[in-house]
Amino acid sequence: MLNTSYKKDMKKIIALNGSPHQHGCTAALMNEVINSLVKQGADVKTYHISKMDIKYCQGCGGCTKHGKCVLQDDMQVLYDEIASADILILATPVYFWQMTAQLKTVIDRCQPFGRPNSTIKLEHGKKALIIATQGRPDETAFIPYFEHAAKSLSLLGFDFVELLIAGGTHEPEDVLNQNKVLHRAKKLSVWVTE
Ligand SMILES: Cc1cc2nc3c(=O)[nH]c(=O)nc-3n(C[C@H](O)[C@H](O)[C@H](O)COP(=O)(O)O)c2cc1C
Repeated sequence: MLNTSYKKDMKKIIALNGSPHQHGCTAALMNEVINSLVKQGADVKTYHISKMDIKYCQGCGGCTKHGKCVLQDDMQVLYDEIASADILILATPVYFWQMTAQLKTVIDRCQPFGRPNSTIKLEHGKKALIIATQGRPDETAFIPYFEHAAKSLSLLGFDFVELLIAGGTHEPEDVLNQNKVLHRAKKLSVWVTE
């Protein structure tokens, strides 16, 4: 028999990989986090953004006028997913000191979650995790940038935004060799039981 009470309490997690490599370094680190969350009973859905049809925000004001985005593409799926998620994971390789254009495009398209009076439609209490991998070995190098990016997620209504960064990554093995980073990835599973 289906254990509905367990299902009801299950944390819903949406993981968006902004890397063009579905099996690259970023995916390797994201999968470590996901595996530990799933072990704790979370319901995790993963999307590889570069494989999806997601257009740039046109800045047309359609969402202000109609309350939803007027572009018809795969973002329509992500709007529902993000709105119903307890935790949002945004994963990206560092490209020229920043997140990839693929991931930034999704963030720009989150404009319909805002109202004209600057309040947010998303329910409060959601958490977000930004995962980044980078060629540069010093994983503190881009923290100021990612803290800045985290602030934009707070503006969207995410109460708590955590960062997980792996440096010196060129192949997925470079992630899987880093015990300290993997340990932090595993510890994030407490989010499921909190
Ligand atoms: C176009 C491009 C730009 C990059 N820019 C940076 C950078 O500014 N700083 C850095 O440390 N690594 C940079 N890298 C390296 C990647 O961030 C790194 O190898 C990452 O782990 C690759 O993840 P992936 O396998 O998911 O693509 C860049 C790689 C590419 C392809």
